[in-house]
Amino acid sequence: MAGSPDPEDFLAEALHDLEVRGLRRTLRCLEPGAEGTARVDGRPALVLASNDYLGLAGHPRLIKAAREALETHGCGATASRLIAGTWDLHLALEAELARFMGCEAALLFNSGYTANVGLFQALADRGDCLFSDALNHASIIDGCRLSRAEVVVYPHRDVDALARLLRERRGARRRFVVTEGIFSMDGDAAPLAAIAKLARREHAFLIVDEAHALGVIGPDGRGACAAAGVEAEAFLRLGTLGKALGCFGAFVAGSRRLREFLINRCRSLIFTTALPPVVVAACREAVRVAAEQPGLRERLWTNARYLRAGLEGLGYTVGGGSQILPVMTYEPGVTMALSEALLERGVYVQGIRPPTVPPGSCRLRVTPTAAHMRADLDRALAAFAAAGRAVGLLR
Ligand SMILES: Cc1ncc(COP(=O)(O)O)c(C=O)c1O
Repeated sequence: MAGSPDPEDFLAEALHDLEVRGLRRTLRCLEPGAEGTARVDGRPALVLASNDYLGLAGHPRLIKAAREALETHGCGATASRLIAGTWDLHLALEAELARFMGCEAALLFNSGYTANVGLFQALADRGDCLFSDALNHASIIDGCRLSRAEVVVYPHRDVDALARLLRERRGARRRFVVTEGIFSMDGDAAPLAAIAKLARREHAFLIVDEAHALGVIGPDGRGACAAAGVEAEAFLRLGTLGKALGCFGAFVAGSRRLREFLINRCRSLIFTTALPPVVVAACREAVRVAAEQPGLRERLWTNARYLRAGLEGLGYTVGGGSQILPVMTYEPGVTMALSEALLERGVYVQGIRPPTVPPGSCRLRVTPTAAHMRADLDRALAAFAAAGRAVGLLR
């Protein structure tokens, strides 16, 4: 009789399989350093891998707000929002976010991932149809899968194809179009003006994930819908608080009725402990700082333009057109070799491989922030020149 299966065996096999395909991932350990830097696996490095686009994560005003909330509210929310976890700070932040986003209401979630995983299941069911951009984030993909609606994936940013697909599904009970504002891994923007016009014509509901646009583009950093002038056309906008706002969490911005509906129907809101008040207090301050200090956005964009031009000047292919700079490396081996060669030269940039991006489109995702100085970027460019030559990408 065969012996009982060893649970370690299948884990080892799966990890070995990832290893041979160049897709095995490991965690890097960061320790705090000066602004825009950290010790990465014990090595001092300039960090060009974070989503802290405005450099707010370590901002003294946010730290002060968090400290004060810690004293008054303690460490945890103590329960789900629907039980005993809705504190004064949650409601105050929701009211401020609604004002900031120019809509009736906002509703906090514990993260962008949990928001997306819950939203589609709450909103769409059998008989409905979700139209999702081919490069939408994994959380949107997972959320769509959890709903029982038909999911139609449309080619990336292709409004004509979307129009055709929407026409073909006119018999669906409700149709939702979901797109990111600025795409997380490609750094390009959705054609929101055209998509909003199409959605209006087709009577479809528009959902925009503003994760990488909030705080970064649009008036006062209100995001991609605001930049395109289609805020009022979106049925729902999702903002995240862990990227440009430097904290943690997410929110849905929309109508008062949408907020009430989600409180009643969204499982990823109902069945989880609420965000700790200490985090919520820091988020409130972050929204204020982001709106009050347009100089942070200007610095971010100046840095992104400078680094993009420098990388292209070295001979790299850089995609997108935003603060996210995908430096194309295509295959996993060279991607991780370049990431390692950069870390050896004091620059931390993460390699992005499948399943995060489609096979053959690996890249380094380079993200300067408002905290970086011109000298930092020059140092990064020198490292990119030397590392690119060391791994054979540049001559
Ligand atoms: C487009 C998009 N939506 C949602 C999320 C998830 O947000 P969070 O990190 O708050 O879970 C991400 C995170 O990377 C993202 O890129």
